[in-house]
Amino acid sequence: MNLTTPTISVIGTGYLGATHAACLAELGFRVVGVDRDRDKIARLAAGEAPFSEPGLDDLLRRHTASGRLRFTTAIRVAAEHADVHFLCVGTPQSAAGPEADLAGLWAAVRDLGRHLTRDCLVVGKSTVPVGTAAAMAAELGRIVPPRISANVAWNPEFLREGHGVQDTLHPDRLVFGVDSPSAELTLRLLYERPIAAGVPVHVTDLATAELAKSAANGFLATKVSFVNAMAEISERAGADVVALADILGDDPRIGRSFLDAGIGFGGGCLPKDIRALAARAAALGASSAPALLHAVDEANARARSRVADLALELCPGAGARVAVLGAAFKPRSDDVRDSPALDIARRVHRAGAEVRVYDPEASLNARAVAPELTYVASLETALRGAELVLHLTEWPEFAAMDPRWAARLVRWPVIIDGRNRIDSGRWAAAGWTVHSVGRPR
Ligand code: UGA
Repeated sequence: MNLTTPTISVIGTGYLGATHAACLAELGFRVVGVDRDRDKIARLAAGEAPFSEPGLDDLLRRHTASGRLRFTTAIRVAAEHADVHFLCVGTPQSAAGPEADLAGLWAAVRDLGRHLTRDCLVVGKSTVPVGTAAAMAAELGRIVPPRISANVAWNPEFLREGHGVQDTLHPDRLVFGVDSPSAELTLRLLYERPIAAGVPVHVTDLATAELAKSAANGFLATKVSFVNAMAEISERAGADVVALADILGDDPRIGRSFLDAGIGFGGGCLPKDIRALAARAAALGASSAPALLHAVDEANARARSRVADLALELCPGAGARVAVLGAAFKPRSDDVRDSPALDIARRVHRAGAEVRVYDPEASLNARAVAPELTYVASLETALRGAELVLHLTEWPEFAAMDPRWAARLVRWPVIIDGRNRIDSGRWAAAGWTVHSVGRPR
């Protein structure tokens, strides 16, 4: 292994892997990215991100042009190229149950292990059930060619979609799960000079590192469900959940972030990660975590249903025209995986409403999973003639909208603000009936 500037491979080039590969190239490493998906690899090799992630296109363009960053579908190329392999393969929820589907990850590990021609460190970054790293180390021990050593480390990633480049280059902490001094040394070499100055580095065992990622997402999900449970009480008691969150958030032990009530969490991570953590906990015979996490999941489902039910109550009859603002699971993203916004739009459509969806970036992806909805290219077209407006993804342009302008376009000025981002006083003054989540009208 080259201990001055190790060569890198990144296996799996989704949000996590593509961003990680591009950022490591930015830091000066020679990187090869690998994925089974030919289209994705072709786009990445052409310097183009296959999804929307601010700043990523620029890094890809510059580093594919310089030759420092390459992409391939052949894992053999990675096996021959790299001293350090980062595993960034997706671990979606399995089709049959709540647990994580690790088929892609295991296929990548076995494929890599069989093709190795040099000593290396295999570093897991994917979110996995605790215990996976140890199983992987044992499997690699069985399959790598004789006289080649492949150590395993776990280095979970906490990046948020839409902030991936920033979060990778400026993380709030680094976690090195290792079982040998040489693995720790390699990770320090990779991160310490360019990234880790002033950033806490937690060196720990493999299991703690794996669990840290699932637990972080579990805790964030719990905060969101907690505040949504408080929103429901607030509505019934005439309290204001936004003021409540501000009061709670001033307590440094609680913190204000992830206390925005609304239609709940979605995306490709939080929902599937809490289910996988609950399933893994149950398999290990730990009973508190499954009970807690199921309650979090249920409260999240309820946050969506409460807004969908209210929308149906407010629909003025069959065929009502409903404008849906937002389809992405969160703003600054074109990702619609497990999107609460899209889920609510589909339910309202199924109940007979005529739904027009506008999202600045996610319409293409939304159409692929919910082709029954009508997607429009502008906010104005969505609003024109609407009898009910649902604000479901908090894109800045929605909160910035002039309510008087919007009132002139719609048939009935009634809005459900599923994200509590509309200035309800201003909208009410412009003639709107505003329904927020957990706030008095
Ligand atoms: C999440 C974590 O925040 C990252 O740290 C983690 O690395 C990532 O999952 C992952 O496992 O890869 P992400 O899925 O990009 O990141 O999205 P978040 O910004 O965490 O938002 C998740 C969901 O929670 C969104 O639907 C958002 O609208 C919702 N949310 C968030 C709320 O409803 N209320 C809040 O106060 C905060």
